Amino acid sequence: MTLLNIVILAAGKGKRMHSDLPKVLHPLAGRPLLQHVLDTAVQFAPGKTCVVYGHGGEAVPQALAQYDASFVLQEPQLGTGHAVQQALPHLDGDLTLVLYGDVPLIQPATLEKMFNQPAALTLLTIHLSNPAGYGRIVRDAAGNVSSIVEEKDATLEQRAIREVNTGILAVPNHLLQGWLAKLSNANAQGEYYLTDIVAMAVAQGVPVHTVHPAHAWEVMGVNSKVQLAELERIWQHEQAQHFLVQGVTLADPARFDVRGKLVCGRDVAIDIGCIFEGEVHLANNVRVGAYSIIRNSHIAAGTHIESYSHIDQAEVGDNCRIGPYARLRPGSKLHSDVHIGNFVEVKNSEIAAGSKANHLSYVGDSSVGSRVNIGAGTITCNYDGANKHRTIIEDDVFIGSNTQLVAPVKVGHGATIGAGSTITRDAPENTLTLARAKQITVPGWQRPTKGKK
Ligand code: UD1
Ligand code: MG
Repeated sequence: MTLLNIVILAAGKGKRMHSDLPKVLHPLAGRPLLQHVLDTAVQFAPGKTCVVYGHGGEAVPQALAQYDASFVLQEPQLGTGHAVQQALPHLDGDLTLVLYGDVPLIQPATLEKMFNQPAALTLLTIHLSNPAGYGRIVRDAAGNVSSIVEEKDATLEQRAIREVNTGILAVPNHLLQGWLAKLSNANAQGEYYLTDIVAMAVAQGVPVHTVHPAHAWEVMGVNSKVQLAELERIWQHEQAQHFLVQGVTLADPARFDVRGKLVCGRDVAIDIGCIFEGEVHLANNVRVGAYSIIRNSHIAAGTHIESYSHIDQAEVGDNCRIGPYARLRPGSKLHSDVHIGNFVEVKNSEIAAGSKANHLSYVGDSSVGSRVNIGAGTITCNYDGANKHRTIIEDDVFIGSNTQLVAPVKVGHGATIGAGSTITRDAPENTLTLARAKQITVPGWQRPTKGKK
C-alpha cells in the first residue's frame, strides 16, 4: 500500500476576508474551513499530515490541536513551492498530497482517484468557462501536460486555455525534495511556484496525469465573505438533497441548515428555518416545527417539536409534545409522552413518562416522576445565590399554578400543591399542601375618590 503524506497549505493572508480571524478558521457549516480539510485528510491515515500556517500566528494550531498533525510556520510567505518546502522535514511516505486549507469541500472519492499512479505526478484540474485568476494547464500536440503557467506569466494564447489548476496535486515524495530545491522566483509575482515542478517532471520523463473532481464545488476556494456565503449555500443544498433522497420531508431545502451531523429515521418532517448543530438524532416519525434549533440531542420516535423551540444537549423520549417556544437546556432527559409547552424552560432535569408542564415554567435541577402535572407559572427555585439544590417531585403529583418550590425540597407521591404556594419544606404524599395568605373580604370598604377642586 502507498504510504501517503498530506500537506495542507494554509499560510495565506486572507486579506479580502477583512477579519482578525485567520481565514482558514472561519466556519463553514459550523466547522472551520481547515477542519473540513483535516477531517478529509484523517480518512487517509496512517500517513502524516502537515499544516503550513502563517497569518494569525498560533491561533491556527491552537484551534485544531485535537488533530494528529504537525503544524509548521511559514514566515515569510514566499509562494506555494516555498510553503511545501517548509513541510519537507515532516514527510516520509511514498506520495505527498497537497491540499489547500481554504478549499474545504474536497471529497475523499475525488482524492482516491489521485493515488492510482504513485510513480506519476497527478494534478487535479477542471475546465472552467471563465478561467481568470487560475494557473492554466498547458498541453503539447499529443495532449500531454507540459507545464502549468500562472495567469500573470501567461501569454494571451495561454490565457485562452480553459483547463485550470485547482492547486491540489499528488507527487512522489522522493522526487519532490529535488524539484523544490530547484525552484526559482524569477516570475511575474517573485514567488516560488509549486506549479513549476510540472515542467521539471516532464523534462525528467516522469508521467504527469490529470484527474477531475466529481463536482465543481469540491475545488472552490474561499477568499472573501462573498465566496464563503456562496459555498455555505452550495454545501447546505448538497446536504438537503442527501436528506430528501433518503426520504426526509423538508418544507424548503433552501431553508435548512445542518452544522454537524444529523441522522434521521423514516418519515421525519422538518419545517422551514431549522438549524441542527453538533450531533443530532431524529428517530422515525419525528416532526420539527419552523425555526427550531436543535443541538447535540436525541429525539425519539413520534415526538413533535413545535415551532421556535430550542433544544440543547437533551434527550427527548418517544411521543413527546414540545413547544412552541420551549427551551430544553443541557441535561434535560424526558421520557415518553411528556408535554413541554410554551415558555417552559427545563435544565438538568429528568421528567418521567406522561408528565406535563404546559405553560410558563422553569424546571431546573429536578427529578419529576410520572403523570405529574406542573401548573402554569411554576418555578423551581434551585439557586440560593451560591449553590444549586435539587427538587424532587414524585409520581402523580399535581402542582397548582404559580407555585415556587424552594429547593432542596421534595413533593411526595400523589400530593397536591395549592395554587400560589411557596413551598419551602417537604410536602407529604397524598395530601393537599398550601402556603399562601388566607383570602379575606372587607365589608363596607369604599374605593378612594378624587377630591373636588
Ligand atoms: C495557486 C496556483 C494556481 C492555481 C490556484 C488555484 C501556484 C503558484 N499557483 O494560485 O496554479 O490555479 O492556486 O486556486 O501554486 N499559500 C501558502 N503560502 C504561500 C502562498 C500560498 O500557504 O506562501 C497557500 C494559500 O493560503 C492558499 C494556497 O496556498 O491556500 C494557494 O495560494 P494562493 O495565493 O491563493 O495561490 P494562487 O495565486 O491563487
Ligand atoms: Mg488563490
